[in-house]
Amino acid sequence: MHPKFTTMSKEYKRTLITSALPYANGPIHIGHLAGVYIPADIYARYLRLKGEEVLFIGGSDEHGVPIALKAKNEGVTPQEIVDRYHYIIKKSFEDFGISFDIYSRTSSEIHYKTASGFFRKLYDKDEFIEKASEQYYDDEARQFLADRYITGTCPHCGNDRAYGDQCEACGTALSPLELLHPKSAISGSIPVLKETKHWYLPLDKHEAWLKQWILEDHKEWKPNVYGQCKSWLDMGLQPRAVSRDLDWGVPVPVEGAEGKVLYVWFDAPIGYISNTIEHSPGDWQKWWKDSETKLVHFIGKDNIVFHCIVFPAMLKADGSYILPDNVPANEFLNLEGDKISTSRNWAVWLHEYMEDFPDKQDVLRYVLTANAPETKDNDFTWKDFQARNNNELVAVLGNFVNRTLVLTQKYFDGKVPTHSEWTDYDRQTLDEFLRIKTEMENHLDHYRFREALKEAMNLARIGNKYLADTEPWKTAKTDIERTATILNVSLQITAGLAIAFEPFLPFTSNKIKQLINRPELKWEQLGSIDVLEAGHPLNRPELLFEKIEEDAIEKQVQKLLDARKANESK
Ligand code: MF3
Ligand code: ZN
Repeated sequence: MHPKFTTMSKEYKRTLITSALPYANGPIHIGHLAGVYIPADIYARYLRLKGEEVLFIGGSDEHGVPIALKAKNEGVTPQEIVDRYHYIIKKSFEDFGISFDIYSRTSSEIHYKTASGFFRKLYDKDEFIEKASEQYYDDEARQFLADRYITGTCPHCGNDRAYGDQCEACGTALSPLELLHPKSAISGSIPVLKETKHWYLPLDKHEAWLKQWILEDHKEWKPNVYGQCKSWLDMGLQPRAVSRDLDWGVPVPVEGAEGKVLYVWFDAPIGYISNTIEHSPGDWQKWWKDSETKLVHFIGKDNIVFHCIVFPAMLKADGSYILPDNVPANEFLNLEGDKISTSRNWAVWLHEYMEDFPDKQDVLRYVLTANAPETKDNDFTWKDFQARNNNELVAVLGNFVNRTLVLTQKYFDGKVPTHSEWTDYDRQTLDEFLRIKTEMENHLDHYRFREALKEAMNLARIGNKYLADTEPWKTAKTDIERTATILNVSLQITAGLAIAFEPFLPFTSNKIKQLINRPELKWEQLGSIDVLEAGHPLNRPELLFEKIEEDAIEKQVQKLLDARKANESK
Protein backbone atom coordinates (compact mmCIF):
# COMPACT_ATOMS: atom_id res chain seq x y z
CA MET A 1 0.00 0.00 0.00
CA HIS A 2 1.25 3.41 -0.79
CA PRO A 3 1.12 5.96 2.02
CA LYS A 4 -0.81 9.14 1.50
CA PHE A 5 1.39 12.03 0.54
CA THR A 6 1.13 15.52 1.87
CA THR A 7 1.61 18.97 0.47
CA MET A 8 2.01 22.02 2.61
CA SER A 9 -1.71 22.37 3.11
CA LYS A 10 -3.56 19.13 2.68
CA GLU A 11 -3.47 15.36 2.41
CA TYR A 12 -4.33 13.84 -0.94
CA LYS A 13 -4.70 10.41 -2.46
CA ARG A 14 -4.33 11.15 -6.17
CA THR A 15 -3.43 13.97 -8.54
CA LEU A 16 -5.35 15.28 -11.55
CA ILE A 17 -3.07 17.30 -13.81
CA THR A 18 -4.51 19.45 -16.56
CA SER A 19 -2.62 21.43 -19.18
CA ALA A 20 -4.18 24.32 -21.11
CA LEU A 21 -5.99 23.11 -24.22
CA PRO A 22 -4.19 24.76 -27.16
CA TYR A 23 -6.34 26.42 -29.84
CA ALA A 24 -6.49 24.17 -32.90
CA ASN A 25 -5.87 27.01 -35.33
CA GLY A 26 -2.16 26.54 -35.87
CA PRO A 27 0.72 24.23 -34.99
CA ILE A 28 2.50 24.62 -31.67
CA HIS A 29 5.89 26.14 -30.94
CA ILE A 30 8.58 26.15 -28.26
CA GLY A 31 6.72 28.78 -26.23
CA HIS A 32 3.80 26.40 -25.68
CA LEU A 33 6.16 23.59 -24.75
CA ALA A 34 8.26 25.62 -22.32
CA GLY A 35 5.37 27.40 -20.64
CA VAL A 36 2.87 24.61 -20.18
CA TYR A 37 3.44 21.13 -21.52
CA ILE A 38 6.97 20.34 -20.40
CA PRO A 39 6.34 21.44 -16.80
CA ALA A 40 3.06 19.49 -16.70
CA ASP A 41 4.77 16.45 -18.17
CA ILE A 42 7.67 16.63 -15.70
CA TYR A 43 5.21 16.74 -12.83
CA ALA A 44 3.13 13.86 -14.17
CA ARG A 45 6.18 11.68 -14.81
CA TYR A 46 7.64 12.44 -11.40
CA LEU A 47 4.46 11.45 -9.56
CA ARG A 48 4.06 8.28 -11.65
CA LEU A 49 7.68 7.37 -10.94
CA LYS A 50 6.86 7.67 -7.25
CA GLY A 51 4.02 5.22 -7.77
CA GLU A 52 1.26 7.75 -7.18
CA GLU A 53 -2.14 7.72 -8.86
CA VAL A 54 -2.09 10.35 -11.60
CA LEU A 55 -4.26 11.42 -14.50
CA PHE A 56 -2.77 13.85 -17.00
CA ILE A 57 -5.29 15.58 -19.26
CA GLY A 58 -4.68 17.34 -22.57
CA GLY A 59 -6.71 18.22 -25.64
CA SER A 60 -7.40 20.78 -28.32
CA ASP A 61 -9.53 23.88 -27.80
CA GLU A 62 -11.54 23.98 -31.01
CA HIS A 63 -14.05 26.79 -30.62
CA GLY A 64 -13.85 30.55 -30.57
CA VAL A 65 -13.94 33.40 -33.03
CA PRO A 66 -10.37 33.14 -34.44
CA ILE A 67 -11.12 29.61 -35.65
CA ALA A 68 -14.46 30.63 -37.14
CA LEU A 69 -12.81 33.61 -38.86
CA LYS A 70 -9.95 31.59 -40.24
CA ALA A 71 -12.45 29.15 -41.73
CA LYS A 72 -14.40 31.99 -43.29
CA ASN A 73 -11.23 33.50 -44.78
CA GLU A 74 -10.17 30.18 -46.25
CA GLY A 75 -13.63 29.29 -47.45
CA VAL A 76 -13.77 26.05 -45.46
CA THR A 77 -15.74 24.92 -42.42
CA PRO A 78 -14.41 25.47 -38.91
CA GLN A 79 -14.41 21.70 -38.45
CA GLU A 80 -11.98 21.39 -41.36
CA ILE A 81 -9.65 23.90 -39.71
CA VAL A 82 -9.61 22.13 -36.35
CA ASP A 83 -9.28 18.71 -37.95
CA ARG A 84 -6.19 19.92 -39.75
CA TYR A 85 -4.43 21.29 -36.65
CA HIS A 86 -5.68 18.89 -33.99
CA TYR A 87 -3.70 16.04 -35.51
CA ILE A 88 -0.59 18.14 -36.14
CA ILE A 89 -0.62 19.29 -32.51
CA LYS A 90 -1.32 15.81 -31.17
CA LYS A 91 1.60 14.45 -33.20
CA SER A 92 3.97 17.11 -31.86
CA PHE A 93 3.06 16.18 -28.30
CA GLU A 94 3.69 12.52 -29.04
CA ASP A 95 7.00 13.33 -30.70
CA PHE A 96 8.17 15.24 -27.64
CA GLY A 97 7.08 12.57 -25.17
CA ILE A 98 4.33 14.58 -23.48
CA SER A 99 2.74 11.71 -21.59
CA PHE A 100 -0.94 12.62 -21.62
CA ASP A 101 -3.28 9.90 -20.43
CA ILE A 102 -5.69 11.33 -22.96
CA TYR A 103 -5.45 13.98 -25.65
CA SER A 104 -8.93 14.71 -26.95
CA ARG A 105 -10.81 17.69 -28.35
CA THR A 106 -13.67 20.04 -27.65
CA SER A 107 -15.48 19.26 -30.90
CA SER A 108 -16.15 15.74 -29.61
CA GLU A 109 -19.67 14.56 -28.93
CA ILE A 110 -18.94 13.82 -25.28
CA HIS A 111 -17.69 17.39 -24.84
CA TYR A 112 -20.84 18.90 -26.35
CA LYS A 113 -22.90 16.79 -23.99
CA THR A 114 -20.79 17.65 -20.94
CA ALA A 115 -20.49 21.38 -21.61
CA SER A 116 -24.15 21.65 -22.45
CA GLY A 117 -25.13 19.76 -19.30
CA PHE A 118 -22.84 21.92 -17.20
CA PHE A 119 -24.46 25.09 -18.48
CA ARG A 120 -27.93 23.68 -18.08
CA LYS A 121 -27.38 22.78 -14.43
CA LEU A 122 -26.20 26.29 -13.63
CA TYR A 123 -29.09 27.71 -15.61
CA ASP A 124 -31.59 25.58 -13.70
CA LYS A 125 -29.96 26.56 -10.39
CA ASP A 126 -30.41 30.20 -11.35
CA GLU A 127 -26.69 30.86 -11.26
CA PHE A 128 -26.74 33.12 -14.33
CA ILE A 129 -28.10 36.58 -15.01
CA GLU A 130 -30.01 36.96 -18.25
CA LYS A 131 -29.50 40.35 -19.82
CA ALA A 132 -30.31 42.06 -23.10
CA SER A 133 -27.86 44.64 -24.39
CA GLU A 134 -26.93 46.43 -27.57
CA GLN A 135 -24.13 44.82 -29.53
CA TYR A 136 -22.59 45.41 -32.91
CA TYR A 137 -24.32 43.78 -35.82
CA ASP A 138 -23.14 43.45 -39.43
CA ASP A 139 -26.12 44.28 -41.64
CA GLU A 140 -24.44 42.94 -44.78
CA ALA A 141 -23.34 39.64 -43.27
CA ARG A 142 -26.51 39.52 -41.14
CA GLN A 143 -24.80 38.49 -37.96
CA PHE A 144 -23.65 39.82 -34.62
CA LEU A 145 -19.97 40.60 -34.31
CA ALA A 146 -18.44 38.94 -31.27
CA ASP A 147 -14.91 39.63 -30.03
CA ARG A 148 -12.50 39.40 -32.93
CA TYR A 149 -15.15 39.79 -35.56
CA ILE A 150 -14.83 43.47 -34.92
CA THR A 151 -11.74 45.66 -35.29
CA GLY A 152 -11.08 49.33 -34.69
CA THR A 153 -8.82 51.84 -33.03
CA CYS A 154 -7.65 51.23 -29.46
CA PRO A 155 -8.83 54.04 -27.18
CA HIS A 156 -5.72 53.60 -25.02
CA CYS A 157 -2.82 53.54 -27.47
CA GLY A 158 -4.31 54.45 -30.85
CA ASN A 159 -3.41 51.14 -32.51
CA ASP A 160 -5.83 50.99 -35.46
CA ARG A 161 -5.86 47.21 -35.60
CA ALA A 162 -7.26 46.50 -32.16
CA TYR A 163 -9.79 43.68 -31.72
CA GLY A 164 -13.15 43.72 -30.01
CA ASP A 165 -11.76 41.78 -27.07
CA GLN A 166 -8.19 43.02 -26.84
CA CYS A 167 -5.59 45.40 -28.21
CA GLU A 168 -2.49 43.37 -28.96
CA ALA A 169 -0.30 46.46 -29.17
CA CYS A 170 -0.82 47.60 -25.58
CA GLY A 171 -2.29 44.39 -24.13
CA THR A 172 -5.46 46.04 -22.79
CA ALA A 173 -8.63 43.93 -22.57
CA LEU A 174 -11.40 45.71 -24.46
CA SER A 175 -15.08 45.39 -25.12
CA PRO A 176 -16.26 46.02 -28.70
CA LEU A 177 -18.11 49.17 -27.66
CA GLU A 178 -14.88 50.82 -26.54
CA LEU A 179 -13.28 50.61 -30.00
CA LEU A 180 -13.08 53.83 -32.00
CA HIS A 181 -14.04 53.59 -35.69
CA PRO A 182 -15.40 50.02 -35.41
CA LYS A 183 -15.35 47.87 -38.54
CA SER A 184 -16.69 44.39 -39.27
CA ALA A 185 -13.95 41.83 -39.87
CA ILE A 186 -16.30 39.94 -42.18
CA SER A 187 -17.57 42.54 -44.65
CA GLY A 188 -15.53 45.57 -43.72
CA SER A 189 -18.75 47.54 -43.26
CA ILE A 190 -19.52 49.80 -40.34
CA PRO A 191 -21.57 47.84 -37.81
CA VAL A 192 -24.80 48.99 -36.24
CA LEU A 193 -26.03 48.47 -32.70
CA LYS A 194 -28.75 45.91 -32.19
CA GLU A 195 -30.25 44.33 -29.11
CA THR A 196 -29.36 40.77 -28.16
CA LYS A 197 -29.80 38.59 -25.08
CA HIS A 198 -27.00 36.80 -23.22
CA TRP A 199 -26.25 34.87 -20.04
CA TYR A 200 -23.78 36.21 -17.52
CA LEU A 201 -21.92 34.55 -14.68
CA PRO A 202 -22.19 37.04 -11.80
CA LEU A 203 -18.57 36.98 -10.67
CA ASP A 204 -19.32 39.82 -8.28
CA LYS A 205 -21.42 37.37 -6.24
CA HIS A 206 -18.44 35.04 -6.01
CA GLU A 207 -15.97 37.70 -5.00
CA ALA A 208 -16.05 37.17 -1.24
CA TRP A 209 -15.24 33.47 -1.19
CA LEU A 210 -12.71 33.88 -4.03
CA LYS A 211 -10.88 36.47 -1.97
CA GLN A 212 -10.77 34.21 1.04
CA TRP A 213 -9.82 31.14 -1.00
CA ILE A 214 -7.01 32.73 -2.99
CA LEU A 215 -5.70 35.66 -0.98
CA GLU A 216 -5.92 33.99 2.44
CA ASP A 217 -5.88 30.23 1.84
CA HIS A 218 -3.45 30.07 -1.06
CA LYS A 219 -0.63 32.38 -0.18
CA GLU A 220 1.73 29.63 -1.34
CA TRP A 221 0.77 30.10 -5.01
CA LYS A 222 3.54 31.47 -7.21
CA PRO A 223 3.98 35.23 -6.76
CA ASN A 224 3.14 35.95 -10.41
CA VAL A 225 -0.14 34.01 -10.09
CA TYR A 226 -1.07 35.33 -6.68
CA GLY A 227 -0.26 38.89 -7.75
CA GLN A 228 -2.42 38.76 -10.86
CA CYS A 229 -5.33 37.32 -8.89
CA LYS A 230 -4.96 39.96 -6.23
CA SER A 231 -5.06 42.77 -8.73
CA TRP A 232 -8.23 41.35 -10.35
CA LEU A 233 -9.87 40.88 -6.99
CA ASP A 234 -8.83 44.32 -5.79
CA MET A 235 -10.39 45.93 -8.87
CA GLY A 236 -13.67 44.18 -8.11
CA LEU A 237 -15.29 41.50 -10.25
CA GLN A 238 -18.06 42.10 -12.79
CA PRO A 239 -20.61 39.73 -14.34
CA ARG A 240 -19.14 38.01 -17.41
CA ALA A 241 -21.05 36.94 -20.51
CA VAL A 242 -20.82 33.19 -21.04
CA SER A 243 -22.62 33.11 -24.40
CA ARG A 244 -22.00 34.61 -27.83
CA ASP A 245 -23.94 35.19 -31.06
CA LEU A 246 -21.99 32.81 -33.25
CA ASP A 247 -22.57 29.71 -35.32
CA TRP A 248 -19.49 27.77 -34.17
CA GLY A 249 -19.48 26.28 -30.69
CA VAL A 250 -21.68 24.45 -28.20
CA PRO A 251 -25.27 25.67 -28.64
CA VAL A 252 -26.77 27.34 -25.58
CA PRO A 253 -29.17 24.65 -24.30
CA VAL A 254 -32.07 26.96 -23.60
CA GLU A 255 -35.23 27.50 -25.56
CA GLY A 256 -35.14 30.62 -27.66
CA ALA A 257 -31.33 30.69 -27.76
CA GLU A 258 -31.02 29.80 -31.44
CA GLY A 259 -27.86 31.20 -33.03
CA LYS A 260 -26.14 31.45 -29.66
CA VAL A 261 -23.27 29.31 -28.42
CA LEU A 262 -21.32 29.03 -25.19
CA TYR A 263 -18.42 31.47 -25.00
CA VAL A 264 -15.22 29.57 -25.79
CA TRP A 265 -13.77 30.32 -22.36
CA PHE A 266 -16.87 28.78 -20.80
CA ASP A 267 -16.73 25.54 -22.74
CA ALA A 268 -12.95 25.02 -23.01
CA PRO A 269 -12.11 24.38 -19.33
CA ILE A 270 -15.08 22.02 -19.18
CA GLY A 271 -13.03 20.15 -21.79
CA TYR A 272 -10.80 18.97 -18.93
CA ILE A 273 -13.87 17.28 -17.46
CA SER A 274 -15.12 15.89 -20.80
CA ASN A 275 -11.70 14.40 -21.49
CA THR A 276 -11.65 12.81 -18.05
CA ILE A 277 -15.07 11.28 -18.75
CA GLU A 278 -13.87 10.04 -22.13
CA HIS A 279 -10.83 8.47 -20.45
CA SER A 280 -12.60 6.91 -17.43
CA PRO A 281 -16.33 6.84 -18.07
CA GLY A 282 -16.88 4.56 -15.09
CA ASP A 283 -15.08 6.48 -12.37
CA TRP A 284 -14.41 9.98 -13.65
CA GLN A 285 -16.12 11.49 -10.65
CA LYS A 286 -13.36 10.45 -8.26
CA TRP A 287 -11.07 12.79 -10.22
CA TRP A 288 -13.38 15.79 -10.00
CA LYS A 289 -15.63 15.34 -7.00
CA ASP A 290 -13.49 13.79 -4.29
CA SER A 291 -11.71 16.10 -1.89
CA GLU A 292 -8.84 13.62 -1.74
CA THR A 293 -7.95 14.50 -5.33
CA LYS A 294 -5.35 17.18 -5.85
CA LEU A 295 -6.22 19.24 -8.94
CA VAL A 296 -3.37 21.17 -10.58
CA HIS A 297 -3.75 23.36 -13.67
CA PHE A 298 -0.66 24.02 -15.82
CA ILE A 299 -1.11 27.15 -17.95
CA GLY A 300 0.61 30.23 -19.36
CA LYS A 301 0.21 33.61 -17.70
CA ASP A 302 -2.43 34.83 -20.16
CA ASN A 303 -4.77 32.14 -18.81
CA ILE A 304 -4.50 32.99 -15.11
CA VAL A 305 -7.79 34.81 -14.64
CA PHE A 306 -9.76 32.03 -16.33
CA HIS A 307 -8.23 29.27 -14.22
CA CYS A 308 -8.00 31.04 -10.88
CA ILE A 309 -11.22 33.04 -10.94
CA VAL A 310 -13.71 32.22 -13.72
CA PHE A 311 -13.46 28.41 -13.86
CA PRO A 312 -13.41 28.04 -10.06
CA ALA A 313 -16.53 30.23 -9.93
CA MET A 314 -18.18 27.91 -12.47
CA LEU A 315 -17.20 24.84 -10.44
CA LYS A 316 -18.41 26.44 -7.23
CA ALA A 317 -21.68 27.47 -8.85
CA ASP A 318 -22.27 23.84 -9.74
CA GLY A 319 -21.40 22.88 -6.19
CA SER A 320 -20.26 19.30 -6.68
CA TYR A 321 -16.69 19.87 -7.88
CA ILE A 322 -13.33 20.29 -6.18
CA LEU A 323 -11.23 23.40 -6.78
CA PRO A 324 -7.59 23.51 -7.90
CA ASP A 325 -4.96 23.09 -5.22
CA ASN A 326 -2.49 25.04 -7.33
CA VAL A 327 -2.16 26.83 -10.67
CA PRO A 328 1.58 27.03 -11.35
CA ALA A 329 1.37 29.38 -14.34
CA ASN A 330 4.50 30.36 -16.20
CA GLU A 331 5.55 33.61 -17.78
CA PHE A 332 6.41 33.85 -21.49
CA LEU A 333 9.34 32.57 -23.49
CA ASN A 334 10.78 34.99 -26.04
CA LEU A 335 12.80 34.00 -29.07
CA GLU A 336 16.12 35.69 -29.83
CA GLY A 337 15.02 38.77 -27.88
CA ASP A 338 11.60 39.14 -29.54
CA LYS A 339 8.10 38.14 -28.55
CA ILE A 340 7.09 34.85 -30.18
CA SER A 341 4.42 35.60 -32.77
CA THR A 342 2.45 33.26 -34.99
CA SER A 343 1.30 35.97 -37.36
CA ARG A 344 4.84 37.27 -37.83
CA ASN A 345 6.14 33.69 -38.07
CA TRP A 346 8.60 34.45 -35.28
CA ALA A 347 8.67 31.02 -33.70
CA VAL A 348 10.40 27.68 -33.63
CA TRP A 349 7.67 25.26 -34.70
CA LEU A 350 7.88 21.83 -33.15
CA HIS A 351 7.14 19.92 -36.34
CA GLU A 352 9.96 21.80 -38.08
CA TYR A 353 12.37 21.18 -35.21
CA MET A 354 11.64 17.46 -35.53
CA GLU A 355 12.63 17.60 -39.18
CA ASP A 356 15.83 19.52 -38.56
CA PHE A 357 16.87 17.69 -35.37
CA PRO A 358 15.37 14.20 -35.53
CA ASP A 359 15.88 12.25 -32.29
CA LYS A 360 16.93 15.36 -30.42
CA GLN A 361 13.68 15.94 -28.54
CA ASP A 362 15.46 15.70 -25.21
CA VAL A 363 17.92 18.41 -26.17
CA LEU A 364 15.03 20.83 -26.65
CA ARG A 365 13.29 19.57 -23.52
CA TYR A 366 16.51 20.14 -21.61
CA VAL A 367 17.12 23.66 -22.89
CA LEU A 368 13.50 24.71 -22.41
CA THR A 369 13.48 23.44 -18.82
CA ALA A 370 16.91 24.78 -17.90
CA ASN A 371 15.76 28.15 -19.18
CA ALA A 372 12.06 27.91 -18.30
CA PRO A 373 10.14 31.18 -17.81
CA GLU A 374 9.12 30.13 -14.30
CA THR A 375 9.50 33.42 -12.52
CA LYS A 376 9.98 35.91 -15.34
CA ASP A 377 9.91 36.04 -19.13
CA ASN A 378 12.95 34.28 -20.57
CA ASP A 379 14.72 34.18 -23.87
CA PHE A 380 15.46 31.23 -26.14
CA THR A 381 18.51 31.66 -28.36
CA TRP A 382 20.07 29.14 -30.70
CA LYS A 383 23.49 29.97 -29.25
CA ASP A 384 22.31 28.98 -25.81
CA PHE A 385 20.73 25.84 -27.27
CA GLN A 386 24.08 24.86 -28.76
CA ALA A 387 26.06 25.75 -25.64
CA ARG A 388 23.80 23.77 -23.32
CA ASN A 389 23.92 20.77 -25.60
CA ASN A 390 27.68 20.82 -26.03
CA ASN A 391 28.75 21.94 -22.55
CA GLU A 392 26.15 20.22 -20.41
CA LEU A 393 24.47 17.29 -22.14
CA VAL A 394 27.53 16.13 -24.07
CA ALA A 395 30.34 17.21 -21.75
CA VAL A 396 28.75 16.42 -18.40
CA LEU A 397 25.91 13.89 -18.58
CA GLY A 398 26.89 12.03 -21.75
CA ASN A 399 30.54 12.03 -20.86
CA PHE A 400 30.08 10.58 -17.40
CA VAL A 401 27.75 7.79 -18.46
CA ASN A 402 29.91 6.90 -21.41
CA ARG A 403 33.17 6.84 -19.47
CA THR A 404 31.64 4.66 -16.77
CA LEU A 405 30.27 2.16 -19.26
CA VAL A 406 33.37 2.07 -21.45
CA LEU A 407 35.66 1.49 -18.46
CA THR A 408 33.40 -1.26 -17.13
CA GLN A 409 33.45 -2.85 -20.55
CA LYS A 410 37.20 -2.63 -20.71
CA TYR A 411 38.17 -3.87 -17.25
CA PHE A 412 35.22 -6.01 -16.20
CA ASP A 413 33.88 -7.39 -19.43
CA GLY A 414 30.72 -5.28 -19.20
CA LYS A 415 29.60 -6.73 -15.86
CA VAL A 416 28.99 -4.76 -12.67
CA PRO A 417 32.12 -5.33 -10.56
CA THR A 418 31.99 -6.17 -6.84
CA HIS A 419 32.96 -3.34 -4.54
CA SER A 420 35.18 -3.71 -1.50
CA GLU A 421 35.61 -1.28 1.40
CA TRP A 422 34.63 2.33 0.61
CA THR A 423 37.10 5.09 1.28
CA ASP A 424 36.04 8.27 3.07
CA TYR A 425 35.94 9.96 -0.30
CA ASP A 426 33.63 7.26 -1.68
CA ARG A 427 31.32 7.74 1.29
CA GLN A 428 31.32 11.47 0.86
CA THR A 429 30.38 11.05 -2.82
CA LEU A 430 27.62 8.60 -1.97
CA ASP A 431 26.26 11.00 0.65
CA GLU A 432 26.06 13.76 -1.93
CA PHE A 433 24.38 11.30 -4.26
CA LEU A 434 21.71 10.57 -1.66
CA ARG A 435 21.18 14.27 -0.95
CA ILE A 436 20.25 14.90 -4.60
CA LYS A 437 17.00 12.98 -4.15
CA THR A 438 15.84 15.12 -1.23
CA GLU A 439 16.78 18.32 -3.02
CA MET A 440 15.00 17.29 -6.18
CA GLU A 441 11.85 16.31 -4.31
CA ASN A 442 11.74 19.61 -2.53
CA HIS A 443 11.94 21.47 -5.84
CA LEU A 444 9.57 19.20 -7.76
CA ASP A 445 6.94 19.29 -5.03
CA HIS A 446 6.96 23.08 -5.30
CA TYR A 447 6.89 23.29 -9.10
CA ARG A 448 10.49 24.53 -9.33
CA PHE A 449 11.43 22.42 -12.31
CA ARG A 450 14.43 24.48 -13.36
CA GLU A 451 16.04 24.01 -9.97
CA ALA A 452 15.17 20.32 -9.93
CA LEU A 453 16.83 19.82 -13.29
CA LYS A 454 19.91 21.64 -12.05
CA GLU A 455 20.17 19.11 -9.21
CA ALA A 456 19.88 16.20 -11.64
CA MET A 457 22.72 17.69 -13.65
CA ASN A 458 24.68 18.17 -10.43
CA LEU A 459 24.52 14.44 -9.93
CA ALA A 460 26.28 13.96 -13.27
CA ARG A 461 28.82 16.56 -12.18
CA ILE A 462 29.40 14.68 -8.95
CA GLY A 463 30.02 11.57 -11.03
CA ASN A 464 32.44 13.31 -13.34
CA LYS A 465 34.39 14.78 -10.49
CA TYR A 466 34.51 11.38 -8.80
CA LEU A 467 36.01 9.78 -11.90
CA ALA A 468 38.47 12.61 -12.37
CA ASP A 469 39.61 12.38 -8.74
CA THR A 470 39.81 8.61 -8.43
CA GLU A 471 41.24 7.92 -11.91
CA PRO A 472 40.15 4.29 -12.28
CA TRP A 473 42.13 3.99 -15.54
CA LYS A 474 45.29 4.49 -13.46
CA THR A 475 44.36 2.27 -10.52
CA ALA A 476 43.56 -0.46 -13.04
CA LYS A 477 47.26 -0.99 -13.55
CA THR A 478 48.06 -1.48 -9.87
CA ASP A 479 44.92 -2.19 -7.89
CA ILE A 480 42.08 -3.83 -9.77
CA GLU A 481 40.01 -4.16 -6.59
CA ARG A 482 40.06 -0.44 -6.08
CA THR A 483 39.05 0.03 -9.72
CA ALA A 484 36.13 -2.32 -9.15
CA THR A 485 34.90 -0.24 -6.24
CA ILE A 486 35.20 3.01 -8.17
CA LEU A 487 33.26 1.66 -11.11
CA ASN A 488 30.66 0.10 -8.86
CA VAL A 489 30.04 3.50 -7.29
CA SER A 490 29.98 5.13 -10.74
CA LEU A 491 27.49 2.59 -12.03
CA GLN A 492 25.14 3.18 -9.08
CA ILE A 493 25.30 6.87 -9.91
CA THR A 494 24.57 6.06 -13.55
CA ALA A 495 21.44 4.18 -12.49
CA GLY A 496 20.56 7.18 -10.33
CA LEU A 497 20.88 9.43 -13.38
CA ALA A 498 18.43 7.26 -15.30
CA ILE A 499 15.91 7.89 -12.51
CA ALA A 500 16.70 11.54 -11.83
CA PHE A 501 16.41 12.50 -15.50
CA GLU A 502 13.31 10.45 -16.31
CA PRO A 503 10.82 13.29 -15.74
CA PHE A 504 12.92 15.71 -17.79
CA LEU A 505 14.60 13.66 -20.52
CA PRO A 506 12.47 10.54 -20.92
CA PHE A 507 14.14 9.38 -24.13
CA THR A 508 17.62 9.66 -22.64
CA SER A 509 16.51 7.99 -19.43
CA ASN A 510 15.20 5.06 -21.45
CA LYS A 511 18.46 4.85 -23.29
CA ILE A 512 20.47 4.78 -20.07
CA LYS A 513 18.16 2.11 -18.68
CA GLN A 514 18.71 0.10 -21.81
CA LEU A 515 22.49 0.52 -21.56
CA ILE A 516 22.56 -0.63 -17.94
CA ASN A 517 20.05 -3.34 -18.76
CA ARG A 518 17.52 -2.28 -16.11
CA PRO A 519 14.29 -1.22 -17.84
CA GLU A 520 12.32 -0.71 -14.62
CA LEU A 521 13.53 1.79 -12.06
CA LYS A 522 11.49 3.66 -9.47
CA TRP A 523 11.94 7.05 -7.86
CA GLU A 524 12.52 5.40 -4.48
CA GLN A 525 15.70 3.82 -5.86
CA LEU A 526 17.30 7.18 -6.54
CA GLY A 527 20.32 7.51 -4.25
CA SER A 528 20.41 3.80 -3.55
CA ILE A 529 23.91 2.30 -3.60
CA ASP A 530 22.96 -1.20 -4.62
CA VAL A 531 20.53 -0.84 -7.51
CA LEU A 532 22.94 -2.69 -9.77
CA GLU A 533 24.10 -5.91 -8.15
CA ALA A 534 27.56 -7.35 -8.74
CA GLY A 535 27.75 -9.53 -11.84
CA HIS A 536 24.76 -7.82 -13.53
CA PRO A 537 25.53 -7.70 -17.27
CA LEU A 538 25.41 -4.34 -19.04
CA ASN A 539 24.84 -3.63 -22.71
CA ARG A 540 27.41 -2.24 -25.14
CA PRO A 541 28.17 1.46 -24.52
CA GLU A 542 26.69 3.99 -26.91
CA LEU A 543 26.86 7.78 -26.88
CA LEU A 544 23.86 9.56 -25.39
CA PHE A 545 24.39 12.92 -27.10
CA GLU A 546 26.39 14.37 -29.94
CA LYS A 547 27.93 17.77 -30.42
CA ILE A 548 25.87 20.31 -32.37
CA GLU A 549 28.09 22.08 -34.86
CA GLU A 550 28.15 25.73 -35.82
CA ASP A 551 26.55 25.28 -39.24
CA ALA A 552 23.39 23.66 -37.82
CA ILE A 553 22.93 26.68 -35.58
CA GLU A 554 23.64 29.18 -38.33
CA LYS A 555 21.01 27.50 -40.46
CA GLN A 556 18.40 28.03 -37.76
CA VAL A 557 19.37 31.64 -37.21
CA GLN A 558 19.21 32.24 -40.96
CA LYS A 559 15.74 30.70 -41.07
CA LEU A 560 14.57 33.24 -38.51
CA LEU A 561 16.19 36.13 -40.34
CA ASP A 562 14.46 35.02 -43.54
CA ALA A 563 11.13 34.90 -41.71
CA ARG A 564 11.74 38.41 -40.44
CA LYS A 565 12.56 39.69 -43.92
CA ALA A 566 9.53 38.02 -45.48
CA ASN A 567 7.41 39.56 -42.78
CA GLU A 568 8.83 43.06 -43.20
CA SER A 569 8.18 43.05 -46.94
CA LYS A 570 4.59 41.93 -46.30
N1 MF3 B 1 -6.95 27.79 -25.82
C1 MF3 B 1 -6.55 28.64 -24.72
C2 MF3 B 1 -5.24 29.34 -25.06
O1 MF3 B 1 -4.50 28.82 -25.87
C3 MF3 B 1 -6.38 27.87 -23.46
C4 MF3 B 1 -7.61 27.18 -23.02
S1 MF3 B 1 -7.37 26.43 -21.54
C5 MF3 B 1 -8.86 25.81 -21.13
O2 MF3 B 1 -4.96 30.38 -24.50
F1 MF3 B 1 -8.93 25.66 -19.90
F2 MF3 B 1 -9.81 26.64 -21.45
F3 MF3 B 1 -9.02 24.72 -21.74
ZN1 ZN C 1 -3.91 49.61 -27.38
